[in-house]
Amino acid sequence: MELGLKGKVALVTGGSSGIGRATAVAFAQAGAKVVVAARRTQEGEETVRLVKDVGAEALFVQTDVTKAADVEALVSKTLEAFGQLDCVCNNAGFGKTVPLTERSEEEWDAETDVNLKAVWLCLKYQIPALLKTGSGAIVNMASMGGGVIGVPGLSSYNAAKGGVIGLTRSAAMEFAGQKIRINAISPGLIATDILSNVPQESLQQMIDSIPMKRAGQAHDIATAVVWLCSDAASYITGHNLVIDGGFTVQ
Ligand SMILES: NC(=O)c1ccc[n+]([C@@H]2O[C@H](COP(=O)([O-])OP(=O)(O)OC[C@H]3O[C@@H](n4cnc5c(N)ncnc54)[C@H](OP(=O)(O)O)[C@@H]3O)[C@@H](O)[C@H]2O)c1
Repeated sequence: MELGLKGKVALVTGGSSGIGRATAVAFAQAGAKVVVAARRTQEGEETVRLVKDVGAEALFVQTDVTKAADVEALVSKTLEAFGQLDCVCNNAGFGKTVPLTERSEEEWDAETDVNLKAVWLCLKYQIPALLKTGSGAIVNMASMGGGVIGVPGLSSYNAAKGGVIGLTRSAAMEFAGQKIRINAISPGLIATDILSNVPQESLQQMIDSIPMKRAGQAHDIATAVVWLCSDAASYITGHNLVIDGGFTVQ
């Protein structure tokens, strides 16, 4: 199947590890040039190395997606380096389990800032670049928690991820007539660093409750991001694709 991504320019936020790193490599395998954005330089540069190993051009731009100036600079540096922007995965995110009544205002703000406000900031600066290109596709990373089910202790994360799905639908409607497709993906349990604080016993219980009896791998999400950004998905917009090994179908 021709994905139509050869020579295109893809931007991945949260590209320094996990799903973002796998997505950067998957875009490169599909023939795209890749811009990797995250706060950690060493890890971001390691993703760039992995992308270059595939034979693609790549650039790391140190970015805190919660800061408007950083996001604006990220888009400018992408255009300076590669001349255009075609595909985006707004993937940066973070969540910590804290009982709702014990959560501080600072913790609420930090999680909603990175998981929701930052996605809006990214869209605000990315969409004008896509309009200049003349077409484009964006995938925003939501979550099974927030988009589909509730998870105890993840109140602000789930609220923000639910917001990402609403934001995605609204943005998709605003730009559908201008050849820009905007979709969301809601991953279930995916084996990445984000699970490092979950005790092994709870992790095993979660895995046992998944119909496919395994956690997803970053690659399982990355290939779906690339497909959603490709010509193969050219009539899909405003969609929230749940990828969870069947968990929420039970
Ligand atoms: N793994 C799962 O089970 C799961 C399930 C549902 C949804 N998700 C979502 O998938 C996305 C990727 O998570 P992951 O599982 O791959 O975890 P991860 O390996 O911890 O990746 C999170 C990424 O977000 C980046 N990030 C966090 N805050 C940032 C900020 N302020 N500015 C820029 N980058 C920032 C991190 O980079 P730096 O620290 O270098 O900035 C890192 O690259 C997240 O949105 C997460 O909520 C994951």
